[in-house]
Amino acid sequence: MVKLQHELEDALAQAREALASAANEAGVEECRIRFLGRKGVIPFLMRQMGALSPDERPLMGKTANGVKQGIQAAIDDALARLAGDVSDTSEALDMSLPGRRRTLGHKHPISQVMDDAVAIFRRLGFVVADGPDLETEYYNFDALNTPDDHPSRDIQDTFYLPDGRLLRTQTSPVQIRVMENQEPPVRIICPGRCYRRDTPDATHSMNFHQIEGLYVDKNVSLADLKGVLTVFAHELLGPDVELRFRPHFFPFTEPSIEYDFSCIMCKGKGCSVCKNSGWLEISGAGMVDPAVFAAVGYDPEVWTGFAFGMGVERIAMIRHAISDIRLLYENDVRFLAQF
Ligand code: DAH
Repeated sequence: MVKLQHELEDALAQAREALASAANEAGVEECRIRFLGRKGVIPFLMRQMGALSPDERPLMGKTANGVKQGIQAAIDDALARLAGDVSDTSEALDMSLPGRRRTLGHKHPISQVMDDAVAIFRRLGFVVADGPDLETEYYNFDALNTPDDHPSRDIQDTFYLPDGRLLRTQTSPVQIRVMENQEPPVRIICPGRCYRRDTPDATHSMNFHQIEGLYVDKNVSLADLKGVLTVFAHELLGPDVELRFRPHFFPFTEPSIEYDFSCIMCKGKGCSVCKNSGWLEISGAGMVDPAVFAAVGYDPEVWTGFAFGMGVERIAMIRHAISDIRLLYENDVRFLAQF
């Protein structure tokens, strides 16, 4: 009998210990089943009371009931403790901690260059013009004085639609659309998407962006072009940037030039970004060809003008020293968050 009493008391001690360290309600339930369940420790011990003499039984019955109540009380305590943990905000939530900052989105570096360029040219008196991405051969090539056998018209270079239309290869057709609808003077810029059948690599993309500029008035000269582009370069990249014109050819300008900015990384001394030349090629420009004026019905004897184009990706890459154009399209936020 003494042995059974010890076993009951041991069971109570074990149950209390297990319940005090139960981590959740499932743990408490597990203890309940282990000690009080039908096949549990206490019912097992109580069944052994059958072997006791009749005068021993009442005392043992009392002990067993006490143990059962003790275990039930420990279960209640454990449940109260677990419920209390959840509502005890002093531990779960420290009201004095600073809030978690949400990261703010921002403009893509390509949009940043376009917006900054638009703002600079607007201050110089240019207005933004727009044209369709889906163009006709007339606007993309013919009206821009581009001969029938010019390589840029080739199916290898231009995306054609079955109906003969094409995805514009440059923003220059917007020049024609504006001049057709407006008498001079004209001062427009046109930021937009362009498409070419280029194989993507570190410096080429099938879909890229240009900013086109056109200035038509009386007595416009190459010096005006250089002045406007110089102001633009200083505003966008800083007052130390120098400008260089190199002779070139475009069907829609005569004379035509390509223009370079002095390298902003090495200040013209030569580095890996400018391939040791000290200069960064930006794009093409020139004086509007009289044939283009004739196509839109402007009198070439009266009107003069300059036009320029620039690659937006190119400028974004120079601005942020980005070595691969494809990074600009992958939209990996870890990359974009840097700018
Ligand atoms: N459209 C030309 C290109 O994609 C760039 C260009 C050159 C634009 C001369 C012009 C220009 O307006 O006058 O390469």
